[in-house]
Amino acid sequence: MSKAQSDPLGLPREAWASRLGLILAMAGNAIGLGNFLRFPTQAARNGGGAFMIPYFVALLLLGIPLMWMEWAIGRYGGSHHGHGSTPGMFQVLARKRWVKYLGVLGLFNPMVVLIYYTYVESWTMAYSFFSATGKYFGITTRQDMGNFLSSFQGFARSPHFPGGIETAYVFMLLTLAINVWILYRGISGGIERLAKIAMPLLFLFAIALAVRVLTLGTPDPARPDWSVASGLGYLWNPDPSRLSDSGVWLAAAGQIFFTLSLGMGSIHCYASYLKRNDDLALTGLTTAATNEFAEVILGGIIAIPVAVAFFGIVETQSIATAGSFDLGFMSMPIIFQKIPLGHFFGTLWFALLFFAGITSSVAMGQPVMAFLQEEFGLTRRKAAMILAVAVFLLIQPVVLYQQFLGEMDFWGGTFALAVFALVEVILFAWVFGMDRAWEEITRGADIRVPRAFYYIIRYVTPLYLILILGFWTVQQAIPKLRMDGVSADARLQVIAARLMLVVIMAGLLLLIGLAWRRRERPGRAP
Ligand code: PHE
Repeated sequence: MSKAQSDPLGLPREAWASRLGLILAMAGNAIGLGNFLRFPTQAARNGGGAFMIPYFVALLLLGIPLMWMEWAIGRYGGSHHGHGSTPGMFQVLARKRWVKYLGVLGLFNPMVVLIYYTYVESWTMAYSFFSATGKYFGITTRQDMGNFLSSFQGFARSPHFPGGIETAYVFMLLTLAINVWILYRGISGGIERLAKIAMPLLFLFAIALAVRVLTLGTPDPARPDWSVASGLGYLWNPDPSRLSDSGVWLAAAGQIFFTLSLGMGSIHCYASYLKRNDDLALTGLTTAATNEFAEVILGGIIAIPVAVAFFGIVETQSIATAGSFDLGFMSMPIIFQKIPLGHFFGTLWFALLFFAGITSSVAMGQPVMAFLQEEFGLTRRKAAMILAVAVFLLIQPVVLYQQFLGEMDFWGGTFALAVFALVEVILFAWVFGMDRAWEEITRGADIRVPRAFYYIIRYVTPLYLILILGFWTVQQAIPKLRMDGVSADARLQVIAARLMLVVIMAGLLLLIGLAWRRRERPGRAP
C-alpha cells in the first residue's frame, strides 16, 4: 500500500466491507427525513403536479450529474490521496494552496444540518413511543395537535408535558448518543452495519404504510372527492400552469439537493472509502434511483394522499404551507386515530422516520469525523468525542429558541448546498479538466455513461446552478437577510442564529488552516 493511502498513524484507511453494504449505506445516506417529511410538504406547497415537472428536470440536470461528480471526487480524494473530507479533496483537484478553504462548505453544510436534523430525528423517536402508548390519542384537531407538539418542544404549556421541555431533551440526548456511538464504531463496523439493519426495515415499514394508505379509498362517503385517488392525482397530473413561477423551480432544485445529500460533502466522504477502480457510475445511479423510489413512490404515496383523503386538497395545501412539520407531526397523528390499528401504524410511521433519519445523520457526521482523523491524526474515539461535544453545545440554542432551526435550514441546508455544488463543478469540470473528470467517472464503470452527460456536466449543470443561485439570492436570500416580515422579538434570535453560523464557519476555516500547517511541517507529505 502506498503512503498516500495510509492514515497518519500508518493504519490502512477504512473501507466498506461489501458492495451491498456500500449500496445500503449510500441509500441510507440519501433516504432520510427529506424523503418522507420534506418532499410531501414541498410538493403539496408548490402545487403537486406543478412541482413534479421542475423536480424531474432538476433530477436530470443537477441531481444525477452531481451524484456522479461527488462519487468521482470522493473516490479520487480518498483512494488516491487519503482524504475523506472536501478540503483535502479540493486541494488535490486544483493544487492551489487556497483551494482547500473552499472545501470548508463540505464540513460546514453537513455540520449545520446535523445539528438541527438530530433534534428533529429525536422527535420521531419520541413520537414513535407516543404512538405506541397512545399519548396523543384523544387529541383530534390540528390546532390541539399543534399545541401538543409545541408543548413537547417546550414552547407552550400543556398538561401533556408537565415537565416542559424535559421529555424532548432526554430524547435529544439519546439520539445524539446513538449517532455518536455508530460513528465511533466506524465505516464497516458502525455505518454499514446500521444500514444493513435499518434499510430493510425502512422499506418494509414504508411499503406496509403505503399499502395501508392505498387501501383506504374514500374514508368519508359524504365527501367523494376526499380520496386517496384524488391525492395521487394532485401529485401526478402534470400542471404546466405554474411553470413560469421561479419559486417552484427553486423549491424543486432545493429538494433535489437535500434529498440526494448533494452539495454536502457527505456523498464524497462515503465514496472516499472506495478503491481506485471500483465502479461508481452504476452504484451512484443506483443510489439516486433508490432514493427517488423511496421519495416519489413511497414518500409520495403516504403523507399527501392520506391527508387529502381525510382533509381534502385545499386543507392539505394549507397544512403544508403552515409549517415543515405540520404534515408529519400534526396531521398524521390525527389520521392514525381514525383508522383501525392506529397505534400500530403510528408507531410504524415514526419508526420509519427515525430509521430514515439516523442513516442520514451519521452520514452528516462522517465528513467531520474523517477530517479530524485524517487531517489531525486523531483516533476515531477522540474524533467522535470532539464531534459529540461540538454538537451537544451547538444544539442547545436549537432546542431552546424557535428561530434557529429555520435559519440554519435556509443557509446551511438549502442555499449553501447550491454554492458548494457550483464550486465543485467548476473545480472538477473546468480546473481539474473535463477529460480527466470523465475518466474518473467512467473508470471501472459497470454501465456505459451516456456521452450526453459529458456536456451536461461541463455546461448545463454549471449554468443551471448559476441561474438558480442568482434567483435565490435576489428572491429569497436578500429579503431574508433584511429580515423582511420577521417580528421584532424573533429578530434577536435570527441574529443570534446567524452569529452562530458565522462562528461555526470561522472555526472550521481556522481548523483547516491549522491542519495544513501541521501537515506541511518539514518531513511530512503535503
Ligand atoms: N438526504 C437526506 C434526507 O433526505 C439528508 C442528508 C443531507 C443526508 C446531507 C446526508 C447529508 O433527509
